[in-house]
Amino acid sequence: MSKTLEALCVMSLVVMAILYGSALSQAQQEGAAFSKNHCVTCHSRLTAPLSVSSKYYDWHTSLHRDNGVGCEKCHGGDPTTDERERAHQGVFPADHPESRVHPAHLPETCQACHPRVVASFVESRHYQKLKESNMGPSCATCHEHMAAAVVQSPTEVAALCARCHNTVGGPLPPHPEIPERAQQVMEALNRANGMFVWADRLLEVGQEKKLDVTEEAHQLQAAKTVLSEAKVRWHALEFDVVRKKADQAFEQAGGVKDRLMKLLYPQSVR
Ligand code: HEC
Ligand code: HEC
Ligand code: HEC
Ligand code: HEC
Ligand code: HEC
Repeated sequence: MSKTLEALCVMSLVVMAILYGSALSQAQQEGAAFSKNHCVTCHSRLTAPLSVSSKYYDWHTSLHRDNGVGCEKCHGGDPTTDERERAHQGVFPADHPESRVHPAHLPETCQACHPRVVASFVESRHYQKLKESNMGPSCATCHEHMAAAVVQSPTEVAALCARCHNTVGGPLPPHPEIPERAQQVMEALNRANGMFVWADRLLEVGQEKKLDVTEEAHQLQAAKTVLSEAKVRWHALEFDVVRKKADQAFEQAGGVKDRLMKLLYPQSVR
């Protein structure tokens, strides 16, 4: 082997080792965040019962895990011990009245990290009913176990409201306008979410092309604040306010999208 070829081989091996090393340390880092959390380490290995084992996987693929929220933040218990009984002290099945994830206690449990949403929910008739009689939806009714970003489709939400609000012989006098309006508001929220996906993507392309899009990024952030307010007010069942803010956010983000289209693809937009 010639000296230069040899040197090249050594160099590429070094480069490979560096790349491999950094990939490995990234994976290790990801695992390390919860490597000392025994709720996570033990539950990740459970295969039975199915109803318990499956909950681990809801969490594993969730936004909460991505943001470092361990099981104990919602369920209680002691994550520092690997002895099941000690770890489970204060952890109860969800239908147990002492459970932190019992429907009646969810607002307090989630409040620690979502104070604005919970303050809004507390204003609703649903919260009052939940406290008085356990009748009425709570956080997990719409967000399920791990609160995926998009909760349920507009028709699913309407069906959920209809269960109590528009069933002949149901628990409450029929109010067909409640599910109808809820469906419309959900459609308006979804439409706004869709516009943000579009505008965010264009913004990324602009940044990749090293164009000056700081003003657009700023305006999009302002529109996001409006959308977030809409989502917060949804929890107080203030449909008019939610609809107005969702549409306002949609229009503001749409304006940014149009300007980005002009900037990025001037020949196709007139
Ligand atoms: C050493 C293993 C182990 C550890 C550590 C552990 N769990 Fe469990 N967990 C289990 C097993 C096995 C079950 C199912 C059987 C049972 O209920 O004991 C279970 C059941 C549960 C349930 C279902 C409700 C119930 O009581 O039946 C919840 C909720 C739960 N665990 C949460 C947690 C949380 C939160 C932590 C950490 C604070 C944790 N677990 C730590 C093994 C563990
Ligand atoms: C963001 C809050 C939150 C986090 C984090 C969370 N859970 Fe849950 N969990 C809930 C809620 C709310 C319920 C009840 C509603 C439901 O079952 O969908 C629940 C229900 C469960 C149940 C069923 C209990 C029963 O009696 O039916 C199990 C088992 C469980 N979770 C395990 C876990 C494990 C294991 C982790 C961590 C790997 C975890 N959860 C993390 C909120 C959370
Ligand atoms: C220890 C803090 C913590 C607790 C407790 C917690 N969350 Fe979260 N949650 C977060 C973080 C952090 C995020 C991701 C950042 C964000 O969107 O706010 C998040 C995201 C969410 C989202 C998605 C928001 C979006 O932008 O798409 C929903 C819905 C949600 N949580 C509901 C709940 C519910 C319901 C509970 C109670 C069962 C709960 N959370 C408990 C910290 C928490
Ligand atoms: C009747 C259904 C319903 C109930 C009950 C409910 N939510 Fe929501 N939640 C929604 C909808 C719909 C959205 C907006 C989803 C979207 O478009 O991204 C949302 C959004 C959120 C967000 C994200 C807010 C943001 O700024 O992006 C959080 C956090 C949240 N909910 C937490 C909770 C908590 C905590 C509770 C209980 C106190 C709760 N939700 C009860 C339907 C519900
Ligand atoms: C588990 C049953 C239940 C479900 C599901 C339910 N609600 Fe309710 N809702 C109630 C109860 C109970 C009341 C209080 C009725 C009363 O006593 O005035 C109420 C009251 C309301 C009110 C206030 C009406 C008034 O007179 O002020 C609105 C608005 C409302 N619900 C909207 C919704 C929407 C939107 C959904 C679907 C996302 C929904 N509800 C799902 C049980 C439910």
